[in-house]
Amino acid sequence: MQAKRGQLVVVSNRLPFAFRREPSGRWRALPGAGGLVTALLPVLRHRGGTWIGWPGASESMPDLSQELAAASEDAGYALRGVALTAEEVRGFYEGFANEVIWPLFHDLQSLCNFDPGYWQAYCTVNRKFAYVVREASSQEDFIWVHDYHLMNVAAELRRLDVASRIGFFLHIPFPPLDIFLKLPWRMQLLEALLEYDLVGLQTVRDRHNFTQCVRALLKDARIEGRGQVLLATHRGRTTRIGAFPISIDYNAFMRQAASAEVAAGARELHALLPKRKLILGIDRLDYTKGIPLRLKAFQNVLERYPELRERISLIQVVVPSREDIAEYRGLKSEIEQLTGKINGSFARPGGWVPVWYAYRSLSRMELLAYYRAADIALITPLKDGMNLVAKEYCACSIEEDCVLILSEFAGAAVQLAKGALLVNPYDIEGVADAIRLAYQMDAAERRARMRRLRRSVREHDVFWWVDAFLRAAITKDLDAFPIAADHHVVEGVDFGLPV
Ligand code: UDP
Ligand code: G6P
Repeated sequence: MQAKRGQLVVVSNRLPFAFRREPSGRWRALPGAGGLVTALLPVLRHRGGTWIGWPGASESMPDLSQELAAASEDAGYALRGVALTAEEVRGFYEGFANEVIWPLFHDLQSLCNFDPGYWQAYCTVNRKFAYVVREASSQEDFIWVHDYHLMNVAAELRRLDVASRIGFFLHIPFPPLDIFLKLPWRMQLLEALLEYDLVGLQTVRDRHNFTQCVRALLKDARIEGRGQVLLATHRGRTTRIGAFPISIDYNAFMRQAASAEVAAGARELHALLPKRKLILGIDRLDYTKGIPLRLKAFQNVLERYPELRERISLIQVVVPSREDIAEYRGLKSEIEQLTGKINGSFARPGGWVPVWYAYRSLSRMELLAYYRAADIALITPLKDGMNLVAKEYCACSIEEDCVLILSEFAGAAVQLAKGALLVNPYDIEGVADAIRLAYQMDAAERRARMRRLRRSVREHDVFWWVDAFLRAAITKDLDAFPIAADHHVVEGVDFGLPV
């Protein structure tokens, strides 16, 4: 499928699926995991355009252009692959993206491996992406680059004299100055980001962190406010900077959750785990998701409130992710040991098992059945750009009879503060108390809170997000730019921070 001129060209490290080699030697496309793919899929399906990304596994791949062309015909938008060698995958993806930027931007600098070779690989691969983008786009297209893997792409495109409008959206948090300063390549990265026409962050707090870094490190940059969008002028180029909380296709989730198949799946779960409230955690295997501390909080609630034993079960689904990175493998063992310990201490022979643990990807129907069956969602990341699982849970709670417990360090907390029970994921007893509170909450309060949450997600769905971003990129009248501000004060913490 060929893209028309003047279209949207989305560029992300991931395509919506990843090719894996089967034991037979054939390549098979598996759906990609994570929030970026969930959010962008409906956008491309509705708007059409081109999606450029790495079709990847962690080994060198043959030319998959035929497979991609076939997938494009089915998808309704064009797909273009950026082939990476195994060495590039190691240095760029596993190395710079996931051992430097991912931990640093999630405030976990002690997990960073600042290997200088990683930066070289990052620059090389970003250049490689830029060549493919140049070839696949025309000057009238809007090029929209996504996430921390590809922060240098606009700079590389400018070097290739590409004059199209280029936007960037960061799906993960932007760290505060003190943390960003640790990055050996901090200047290069900030300068590269200011080669975009628009930089979008998840929250006003992330936008504040970004502009603070620009102010502190790029002395000749000037920042001024224009409506909801800020303008950074640096070396003759002006970059717009805004906060655009990402979201989901609310109606699609709600519709599918209401299907007979999902309802049957949810009933089956309740039949398997009868006479108790089901608490749900669903996360990619990632140290940012706070799974070990969550398990400790669950253990704590069973220890301190024995009356809840046999009345609650935690279903913890861990979706495999980044399995070639050592830190992730260690985390899996830790989660499994903790689960074993809790079940070993509390399970009743032939009866109640406190933690139901699954380590696998879910089909969409299974995922929705879990959402519908769960009486309480326990979402406690240590830090998260947004957290779409929280929004999906609300969209799927069609009976409006359940409770969302959410970390105050998820980007979604800003928007969902008034309906969710917000917790500090590091506070084991605090999270345990929130579980008890959710368990005891009366039906009227559950409904009022969930209604509020669902309204908020419905009004700010992924189509609202994409419109807000594109309008901010294109509008001439920034003063009148009508983006809804996600400016809230949560328990005395001003997540909106003045800029
Ligand atoms: N998800 C998935 N595979 C699964 C279960 C869930 O891809 O087996 C999706 C889930 O529906 C959600 C996304 O993964 O859209 C997770 O997004 P989130 O923003 O919560 O966190 P991320 O994984 O992007 O850090
Ligand atoms: C997060 C990132 C995405 C990434 C996803 C899955 O959502 O923001 O960019 O695609 O995790 O991680 P992976 O490393 O498998 O792409």
